[in-house]
Amino acid sequence: MRDLGGQSILITGGGSGIGAGAARHLARRGARVTICGRRAEAIARVAASIGPSCRAVQGDVTLPADRERIVAAAVEHGGGLFALINNAGNMYRGPITELDQQRLLEIFNSNVIAGMLLTGLAVPHLIKTQGAILFVGSVHVRRAFPGASPYAATKGAIEVLTRVLAAELGTHRIRVNCVVPGGVFTEINQRAGLFDDVTARKRLESMAGMHVLGRIGTEEEIAEAIEYLITAEWTTGAIVDVDGGLGLGLTAA
Ligand SMILES: NC(=O)c1ccc[n+]([C@@H]2O[C@H](COP(=O)([O-])OP(=O)(O)OC[C@H]3O[C@@H](n4cnc5c(N)ncnc54)[C@H](OP(=O)(O)O)[C@@H]3O)[C@@H](O)[C@H]2O)c1
Repeated sequence: MRDLGGQSILITGGGSGIGAGAARHLARRGARVTICGRRAEAIARVAASIGPSCRAVQGDVTLPADRERIVAAAVEHGGGLFALINNAGNMYRGPITELDQQRLLEIFNSNVIAGMLLTGLAVPHLIKTQGAILFVGSVHVRRAFPGASPYAATKGAIEVLTRVLAAELGTHRIRVNCVVPGGVFTEINQRAGLFDDVTARKRLESMAGMHVLGRIGTEEEIAEAIEYLITAEWTTGAIVDVDGGLGLGLTAA
């Protein structure tokens, strides 16, 4: 396992949810963390709560100039780059008969294409550190939620990307892995305008029984898996479910 002390880590979408949890966890392990997001106040709040080891860079990962600025900021803050965590993501759902082309393009841009292009920018830096890429998938690839085809399709793409890029970048000793979370209470559905905070939490809590372990998960539990996947030196192309057993498809009969 690689020691995270002083290692430079870039986390996209670090202003809330799983990205913020990973930033806190990895900073506690001694990493120098850079987080980005479109809402300046959200990332500033998270960075302030962590302290000087965390830098916040406002930016949109779907924009080429922002991607370059974000990677440059992480390299400057951490003195190089050891890991890129492609966590930024958005939800879009709706019946297949009602999908909007522009919104489909947007979700593929933020959830898939941005991570691919950021990975391309990160590779020259990761070659120097024999570092790691981490993608964030979703249990939506294991369980079919009617109406969630746009989001699920982006997460299916993430799993394929993990394996192809692991094969492609292994010659540089860069490891590429994917964590597949189950239900964790975050802002993703509320930001998409689907539910308010209270309804979103109730809805997620109502899914506790679908998880084999009987409850939804925490940001910290996802962060622990992320730590393993970026530091494990003989693990690449791995797609690791951290979902309390939700993806197993528990049935009552
Ligand atoms: N929560 C779950 O149960 C769950 C389960 C499986 C997978 N996931 C995945 O986990 C990842 C994190 O989501 P989360 O649940 O923690 O939701 P979240 O709290 O909404 O976090 C997502 C973050 O991504 C940022 N983001 C979105 N689009 C961006 C863009 N274009 N440029 C820069 N930042 C952007 C958002 O900030 P701004 O809006 O300020 O940009 C937000 O802080 C996502 O990939 C999601 O699909 C979540």
